[in-house]
Amino acid sequence: MFPNVRPRRLRQTAAIRNLVREVRLDPGDFVLPLFFSETLTTAKPVGTMPGVDQLPVSAAAEIAQRAHEAGLGGVILFGLPKEKDACGDAACNPNGPVPQAVMRMKDKAPDLLVMTDTCVDEYTDHGHCGVLVKNRRGEQVVDNDATLEVLCRSALTQARAGVDVVAPSDMMDGRVGAIRRALDGEGFQDVAILSYAVKYASSFYGPFRDAADCAPKFGDRSSYQMDPGNTREALRELAQDEAEGADMVMVKPALPYLDVIARVRDRTNLPLAAYNVSGEYAMIKAAAKAGMLDEKRATLEALLSIKRAGADFILTYHALDAARWLG
Ligand code: PBG
Repeated sequence: MFPNVRPRRLRQTAAIRNLVREVRLDPGDFVLPLFFSETLTTAKPVGTMPGVDQLPVSAAAEIAQRAHEAGLGGVILFGLPKEKDACGDAACNPNGPVPQAVMRMKDKAPDLLVMTDTCVDEYTDHGHCGVLVKNRRGEQVVDNDATLEVLCRSALTQARAGVDVVAPSDMMDGRVGAIRRALDGEGFQDVAILSYAVKYASSFYGPFRDAADCAPKFGDRSSYQMDPGNTREALRELAQDEAEGADMVMVKPALPYLDVIARVRDRTNLPLAAYNVSGEYAMIKAAAKAGMLDEKRATLEALLSIKRAGADFILTYHALDAARWLG
């Protein structure tokens, strides 16, 4: 007997495909990462990320306006300071590129959601995400609790500049709770925390380290970022950050970790973000440039897959292009 059930019936026209589509993309799903430099006076292209620039602080108002007009969900800011030191103190400088850019953005486009990455790797002269200490074996490692102190001061600096959301990306234990207490202590109850709860020690951050000038000068980040083989550990990180008061959580990277996004989605009722990182962006750009992929279709399909896996919103360098293509 020929089957009565014919799934192809619902694929015959654009109209019916549109009606039954389960997951859709919207410009409001995207958060655009931006790099602000304290020393530049004009935009400087990032060689490994075609279409991405390091920006002078003076460009903040204009890009905020563009992001707002494109209907993006928000922007997330990273900083390149003039000077670095061993503990990343420049991350706490109110005159630094990130607080200064936040103020200009809030001034020009008050309705645009502005987030800041809270981490010291762009501000330390060794490039690690924290303060160094010698461990029992005499090796230089990142000291968890000493790092919390500078992270809290950095988050406060960002809050005073007017940011809506701080996003700690350092992977220190206990930082969500510490930052929450620090913010509340100064009356910033309304500043939300988007925790990079599940962040893997990934090779896909390579191009970002050019963009943000933050490649570690020795060793790697595997003593604080997660091992790519682990998913149960991701659920422990999630539970911990929820207990400490995270308002939203993130999985990073996105495309090689769609299974992790799906498992975290099943376990949390918090808004879930995924970071479509620099290496994921660079791969599509390189393949498109070589004529191997249709950039628009590949990008939208990749972003859709991240949402289908369970992310509510996506940090992505494709944000402005994708918003335009969807418009
Ligand atoms: C650390 C940070 C990194 C990224 C975002 N925040 C780099 C790292 O952990 O080495 C990577 C983002 C990307 O690759 O697009 N502050």
